[in-house]
Amino acid sequence: MTNKYMYFIANWKMFGTLKTLNSLKKVISFSNNLKKNKLRIIYCPPTTLIRPLFKKLKKSSIEVGAQNCHESKKFASLTGQINASMLKDVGAKYVILGHSENRQNGEHNELINQKIKTALKSGLKVIFCIGETLKEKNKNQTYRILNHQINNCLKGIKNFSKIIIAYEPVWAIGTGKIPKLEDLKKNIFFVKKKFKNKSIKVLYGGSVNTKNIKDLKKISTINGFLIGGDSRDPKKFIDIIKKTYN
Ligand code: PGA
Repeated sequence: MTNKYMYFIANWKMFGTLKTLNSLKKVISFSNNLKKNKLRIIYCPPTTLIRPLFKKLKKSSIEVGAQNCHESKKFASLTGQINASMLKDVGAKYVILGHSENRQNGEHNELINQKIKTALKSGLKVIFCIGETLKEKNKNQTYRILNHQINNCLKGIKNFSKIIIAYEPVWAIGTGKIPKLEDLKKNIFFVKKKFKNKSIKVLYGGSVNTKNIKDLKKISTINGFLIGGDSRDPKKFIDIIKKTYN
């Protein structure tokens, strides 16, 4: 049983329509019965659902985040793009940046650095994703990669109070695989040590589910979870939260 303050962040990726939001009733009533100072639930739906979800959650303690944003702080002639202030305007409090699915689409550390700076300046909190690929892990390069991603994506940023790190090994995302607990513990320790500041929050993400949560929660240094697939099923999402505390 843990008493730690934990984050449970739902990353819906490119899933969900207005109809999907009806399924959140269960999560809303579950969260209304929780002690508010114990945990934080954040939903990051596709951009199209941020506003309707924000309205739906107005009376609950659940917060809303976005999944990415453009690096420009100013409005600009950029067809199809959305910047951080626009996300804030419709109710987002957080934005996920540096997710490996976007890195695979060409987002590099320098661009992520610009996005993080803009998001912070616009008043959003940042869920900053880092993690090694399978190839890098097999070459024992995990620490080197994490170090590089942190140094370059957070270059020039001195205040980390609005940044939550999500350690997500790329090979664990959507695969059903998670790291050996021993390795995960070491990697989380490595990340926290880099910040010296013990209050930095480090979450784990990558195939978190209702079964492996019993093991994952044993790592007392983890401050919460970024959950993809199983966050789209309200029952499973609630189950993960319950099992973390029981
Ligand atoms: P997953 O996704 O839980 O489906 O592995 C996690 C993520 O990509 O944030």
